[in-house]
Amino acid sequence: MPVEVKVDQDVRKIVRTLVEEKGPEKAELIPILHEINSELGYISDEAIKELSERMNIPSSHIYSVATFYRMLSTEPRGRHVIQFCESAPCHVAGGRLVWEKLQRELGLSKGETSEDEKWSLITTSCLGVCGVGPVLVVDNNIYGNVTPEQVPGILSNYE
Ligand code: FES
Repeated sequence: MPVEVKVDQDVRKIVRTLVEEKGPEKAELIPILHEINSELGYISDEAIKELSERMNIPSSHIYSVATFYRMLSTEPRGRHVIQFCESAPCHVAGGRLVWEKLQRELGLSKGETSEDEKWSLITTSCLGVCGVGPVLVVDNNIYGNVTPEQVPGILSNYE
């Protein structure tokens, strides 16, 4: 399926609409950045420029916020983003073996995106569901008690 490419005009319109919906207050910056990230797949320079004008916040500040949060990206990402919890409780529960299996299955290391732009593999700190560690999240779906053997089956849900 071809990937839909948003031209700058679409990006500006998306940003404008979000600011109108949520309001231009600074407290809305992070929620708006999340929305932009999920609509466009990442936060482009054009989106930052438009957001800066609409919210009256310097582009440099928006950029620093967008690069601070791991779930936000200023670079294009794959169609499916896998977040793997690397905090201690998940690690102790067997996370290392799951992480190794994930990297082998995808042929990716931490922070990489596959050449076909299908997958991006990132790590995250505790997601607050340590009781079911090891935990990974694909897009918005959380998987708990994951074993290395389950990894191929989980990935196949996204073929
Ligand atoms: S340590 Fe992994 S969810 Fe808390």
